[in-house]
Amino acid sequence: MRIIQVNDYADMSQKAAELISDQVRKKRDSVLGLATGETMLGTYAALVKEYQQNNTSYREVRTFNLDEYIGLDATHPNSYRHYMHEQLFRFLDIPLSQTHIPNGCAPLLEEECARYEQLIEQCGGIDLQLLGIGQNGHIGFNEPGTLFASTTHVVRLSESTRKANARFFSSADEVPTHAITMGIATIMKSKQILLLASGERKAWAISRLLEGEVTTDVPASILKTHPNVIMIADDEALSLVS
Ligand code: F6R
Repeated sequence: MRIIQVNDYADMSQKAAELISDQVRKKRDSVLGLATGETMLGTYAALVKEYQQNNTSYREVRTFNLDEYIGLDATHPNSYRHYMHEQLFRFLDIPLSQTHIPNGCAPLLEEECARYEQLIEQCGGIDLQLLGIGQNGHIGFNEPGTLFASTTHVVRLSESTRKANARFFSSADEVPTHAITMGIATIMKSKQILLLASGERKAWAISRLLEGEVTTDVPASILKTHPNVIMIADDEALSLVS
């Protein structure tokens, strides 16, 4: 794993956007794996700025998001489809038909998971997967205890994750209880992974990832066994690493 230590959130976002736009310039039809959450807001803003300044074309890019809440449709302000549209897609020249997010309102959720997994394969797999990390070490919505062999599946969100995400909802009760997420095996098949971490909130998970054993108790710990991971983390996120 290559670790790029940066001062703060702004530096992390800038560096991440550079790596993503480099990937798209190198391969115009890149398949990007995308994430949501607070961590990614600065990266997407920097990516939009880069696009506007340099005309980097996303016309041939295909994207796959890691996850989506169950029960929130594209118009819901807290759905990840809505987030992606607002933060990124509406600014780029990417056709929306090339942007994929699990459908959390599909009538048959198991079939939706299988369809999503197949679609990633059909597109040739993910070239660059962007990842944040949960305070409990989750990646995507793969909570502690998730099998490393898991593919795209339905998960029940842990109470700690629901609590952490409640800040985006008007009340904690409104946070969905379930989500669809790419599995850990799906993520690990990506050719390259870019993990971002900022702030003290992430320090425990990052120290367990870097210094602990590979264990399903800390899902992100599996990333140590991937041959091509870059982590961009700021001083606070690295503050518990000895
Ligand atoms: C989001 C996702 C999650 C987040 C993680 C960190 O698509 O898959 O794993 O990356 O929960 O969230 P933030 O960035 O809000 O701290």
